[in-house]
Amino acid sequence: MKRLQLVDSPYLVKEAKVCEVRQMTEHEKYFKLMLRDEPDLDHEPGQFVMVSIFGVGEAPISICSSPTKKGYFELVVRKVGKVTSAIHRLEVGDTVGIRGPFGRGFPVRILEGNDLLFVAGGLGLVPLRSLVDFVIDNRRDFGRVHILLGCRSPKDILFKDEVESWARRIDVDFSCTVDRADPDWKGNVGLITSLIPGVDLDPTRTFAVVVGPPIMYRFVIKELLKKGIPEKQIIVSLERHMKCGIGKCGHCQIGNYYCCQDGPVFSYDEIKDNLEAL
Ligand SMILES: Cc1cc2nc3c(=O)[nH]c(=O)nc-3n(C[C@H](O)[C@H](O)[C@H](O)COP(=O)(O)OP(=O)(O)OC[C@H]3O[C@@H](n4cnc5c(N)ncnc54)[C@H](O)[C@@H]3O)c2cc1C
Ligand code: FES
Repeated sequence: MKRLQLVDSPYLVKEAKVCEVRQMTEHEKYFKLMLRDEPDLDHEPGQFVMVSIFGVGEAPISICSSPTKKGYFELVVRKVGKVTSAIHRLEVGDTVGIRGPFGRGFPVRILEGNDLLFVAGGLGLVPLRSLVDFVIDNRRDFGRVHILLGCRSPKDILFKDEVESWARRIDVDFSCTVDRADPDWKGNVGLITSLIPGVDLDPTRTFAVVVGPPIMYRFVIKELLKKGIPEKQIIVSLERHMKCGIGKCGHCQIGNYYCCQDGPVFSYDEIKDNLEAL
């Protein structure tokens, strides 16, 4: 009788050790992890893993580190419920279960040689950071890079030191805005859409990569289309409730697509008929 091989099964849970934990903002924590039996996850920017906490459950979480960083991977988790609260209780030295990487990431090979406009709203910076870091680590392979970041308030800005280092680079145009300023804030105040008209770009060779809360997409995409960026060149990453993560259960369906397998990254022309309903 043929024995069941679990070695390459998407159901196989790999063990990963927590190497670093940092409180990033009031609700978000950063985790650096290392797989126990493999050197690397071998992921693409924009993919996610299913993180499991024994006896509690599993949740899809974006890998926020670039595959150019070897020997570890990074996650940022917002505490919203059962699994994410259990993840927040993890300490250095603890072990978690990991399945994946899963999903279709950002189309890096298509983006190469083109100008990029990154638009990140709030927690959207988490999956986007894996691509921004990949681009910065391979800077010569890409054209002009614009990064627009929008947050509720200055204290909600994730990866503050890194974001400041992007702002200082001469090969990156960076702008940030907050909905509500505090007395020390010297930057823009207003919605992220207010930054788009001022970006100097060539729409024929610009790919816009947009990640943020569902409400943001409609307004941001409207501004990008006004700038003349073709629908095929607008890339979004979507979040749906997920169970299996591998196209079996149907929980994450968006129109004809399974977000876990066909996405989470889509071009706007693929998903535009379903975006309004999300
Ligand atoms: C592809 C993908 C990537 C993700 N990446 C990240 C990430 O990098 N960091 C991060 O903090 N979160 C991320 N999420 C969201 C995260 O998976 C959910 O917050 C998590 O599953 C909630 O589990 P819970 O048991 O803590 O909450 P529950 O106790 O199940 O629910 C608490 C609340 O969260 C809502 N919720 C549950 N699941 C989701 C979901 N998938 N999307 C939105 N709301 C949800 C529920 O409706 C409820 O209101 C991602 C989701 C997807 C699909
Ligand atoms: S999560 Fe099961 S089909 Fe996508």
